[in-house]
Amino acid sequence: MDYSSINLRYSELAKSDCCLSCGGAIHYAEVHPGEVCVDLGSGRGTDVLRMAEQAGSEGYVYGIDISSGMLETARKNAEKFGVQNVQFLHSDLEKIELGEGVADLVISNCTINHATNKLAVWQEIHRILKPGGKFVVSDIFATSEIPAQYKNDPVAVAECWAGAVTREEYMATLSRAGFGEVVVLEESKPYSKGQAEVCSFTVAGKKGAQKKCSCNA
Ligand SMILES: C[S@@+](CC[C@H](N)C(=O)[O-])C[C@H]1O[C@@H](n2cnc3c(N)ncnc32)[C@H](O)[C@@H]1O
Repeated sequence: MDYSSINLRYSELAKSDCCLSCGGAIHYAEVHPGEVCVDLGSGRGTDVLRMAEQAGSEGYVYGIDISSGMLETARKNAEKFGVQNVQFLHSDLEKIELGEGVADLVISNCTINHATNKLAVWQEIHRILKPGGKFVVSDIFATSEIPAQYKNDPVAVAECWAGAVTREEYMATLSRAGFGEVVVLEESKPYSKGQAEVCSFTVAGKKGAQKKCSCNA
């Protein structure tokens, strides 16, 4: 995939302090001391630094991002606050530069909508989580399918709306990636973004959790 539009937009935004989140993933994350945590699309590193404090010196937090400007700001912030137990990796969400089963917790905020192959991203989340490991993800979905002219426009995708899929498609992708039971922790009313109508939501689940079955079989 060509990440030049994403890199350009987010390297510029790395120098601003405007809010880039679309939900409260970090507030639902419940990091425990000693845990290994990952933030996908870590931006300026704020959530990584917060989790590093909660995970303590026995824990470790990885921030993953594709924008060189964001990575530079995040690394400077870690240095400024003297945070040692973190690492910011230049890596694509669709091919995360981490080993299998390393993470107790994966969070992400307003990032997965940018990915072309969302199934690949969710399969990567499943791969890097330990058995029983948890994800908490804030993201957006579109209330109706985004027309191809916008979906295939890298600038519109980088603007954080044209890559959104419908709620049905989002949930189906999670299920296909192996996450059986998914909880919706918060969900906004529809609002306009770019040329689309979207909603923000925060979803959570565990690796290994089975779909609830009400049948007698
Ligand atoms: C809207 S910002 C959110 C940043 C941060 N999570 C926050 O809440 O402030 C999206 C971030 O995802 C990163 N990103 C977008 N697509 C990505 C990809 N395919 N792989 C890795 N990072 C990506 C961008 O560079 C940017 O830093």
